[in-house]
Amino acid sequence: MKHDGIAVVDFGGQYAHLIVTKIRRLNVYAEILQPEDPVERFQSYKGIILSGSPSLSAFGEDSAYDKRIYDLPAPILGFCFGHQEIAKHYGGRVEHMQREYGPAALQIRGSSPIFAGLNREETVWMSHGDTVTVRPVNFEEIGVSVTGGIAHANAAIGSNSLRRYGFQFHPEVDDTIHGQEMLRNFCVNICGCRADWTMQNYAVEAAERIRLQSAGRPVFLLVSGGVDSTVCAALLRRALEPDNVRLLHIDNGLMRKNESAGVIEEFQRRGLSNNLHFVDASNKFLEALAGQIEPEKKRTIIGDTFLSVFHETVEQLDLSGCLLAQGTIYPDTIETGGTKRADVIKTHHNRVPAVQRMIEQGLVIEPLVELYKVEVRELGEALGLPEEIVWRHPFPGPGLGIRLLCSDGNVIDAGQLSNSQSALEEALANSAVRGRILPVRSVGVKADLRSYEHPVMLWGDFGKDDPELVAARIFQRVPGVNRCVVDLSGNGVQNARPLVASVTRERLDNLREADAVVMELLHRYELNRKIWQFPTVFVPLEINGSGKELVVLRPVLSERGMTARPARLPQEILAGLNTRIRQLPDISGVAIDITSKPPGTIEWE
Ligand code: XMP
Repeated sequence: MKHDGIAVVDFGGQYAHLIVTKIRRLNVYAEILQPEDPVERFQSYKGIILSGSPSLSAFGEDSAYDKRIYDLPAPILGFCFGHQEIAKHYGGRVEHMQREYGPAALQIRGSSPIFAGLNREETVWMSHGDTVTVRPVNFEEIGVSVTGGIAHANAAIGSNSLRRYGFQFHPEVDDTIHGQEMLRNFCVNICGCRADWTMQNYAVEAAERIRLQSAGRPVFLLVSGGVDSTVCAALLRRALEPDNVRLLHIDNGLMRKNESAGVIEEFQRRGLSNNLHFVDASNKFLEALAGQIEPEKKRTIIGDTFLSVFHETVEQLDLSGCLLAQGTIYPDTIETGGTKRADVIKTHHNRVPAVQRMIEQGLVIEPLVELYKVEVRELGEALGLPEEIVWRHPFPGPGLGIRLLCSDGNVIDAGQLSNSQSALEEALANSAVRGRILPVRSVGVKADLRSYEHPVMLWGDFGKDDPELVAARIFQRVPGVNRCVVDLSGNGVQNARPLVASVTRERLDNLREADAVVMELLHRYELNRKIWQFPTVFVPLEINGSGKELVVLRPVLSERGMTARPARLPQEILAGLNTRIRQLPDISGVAIDITSKPPGTIEWE
């Protein structure tokens, strides 16, 4: 079945993925196209959306994209930068004006079909410095925005005869309360898209495509136990004879407690255990990591060891004539906004050159490549996978290896540390909150670049002080700091000493236990779906003369991991976690990370 679709032109930032996700929630298929794509690529879509842009300006210079899209009969809708581009193209004018940022009241004028069924006044979200000051002829003003008592003209414009519309605001963000209804009006009512993009349909269509592509040949898939590879395996199982689905699971020793056993059990339940090959490579990984302390070095070693175990195993198994299946998902293949920049992008392991060559020869099956994570989960549900698998949190490839910080025991930047400590004390001068800069470093992200700086431990009486606002003040005023954690004991840090530590089985086993405590409480309190990811991190620090590991809890709320907010947990859960984790050996303290991303990353290294 061919689905009606909307093309979303990506002018940068996070906007395009967000717009596509929101449209697909309406059961309408949408995908991202790039500004450099020629007009021919747009011809099969029933509608086009021009995204906003964090860096481009429609004021002055001419923007680079194929303007012939305006000759197509399909309706076009633009947001922010896209809105200004439409106005400019049809003869309007765009100028730098007073910035509007945050919520605004949109007063709807006239009776445009794009606002059908909405209130005469709607809350919308704005972020712009340029404005459409002169509207093109044939276009009506269909909305005026009001922020801080000041009215802004042309907040929404439209031409029903041309079927072109523009919003200065962003309907794709949740803060635009009825943004979803506006998108529905455009995609379904104006463009006439059928709302048939459901995961029930997808399961049937994808199974058919797999049967066609494999044409009786066996398919080989690496299964980690994560959502994507498990859903991919379930789909293969639905499409093919069990004998034609060959699976490999490698235990790298960096997985969660009992994870490999769980993977094997799950595939036994699905009737696929006969074809599941299991390799325990934990010793190999531990040997390769022995004595290593640098985060990126550890990542490289883990990646290289994985590839070597994988190649060795594939040599041993007879896989001649097999196709390779991968659980690659849509965001892994579309680099947009921030991920497009060469200095931040990591080569995705599903796109290394050998795989790329196989893709060109038609030997790779990627049945999830059109889907976002949330759709993969829905597909998993449609395929009858259990909730604990479908809603499992994303888990990084290098696993617990990057949640076990390592050190040579030396204090780095002692001078910087003492300057930062003075600045911290100044920043906290008028509050009952106390803080200490910790003598370790963790990875963060500032102005789109990686930072490797110190965390701050906070304790004391927060009273009316919101911990996240205290953290924001610290990031503004204290140099060399990219993270804040709150001590759960409340006793604070009189002294903290880094200890010599690398990746050992003993430390990993201890981290696995702490992580299992966290996962158990998360499930008991039914927080698994609300919290996006919840790393538990070991930091090799002796605190106040005792213990060896500071345990940091890192619950976050996020959509795709590109940005994140710290998740707030009820006091009762925090107290339970603190008590139970302190019963494990060698613990020097337990703290909760209250840093957003940016400036912190989700993982600590
Ligand atoms: P950060 O720490 O960059 O993480 O905020 C964003 C998301 O990416 C995951 N992550 C990784 N996943 N290999 C992976 O497969 C890695 O090296 C890696 N580092 C971070 C992280 O768990 C989060 O979901």
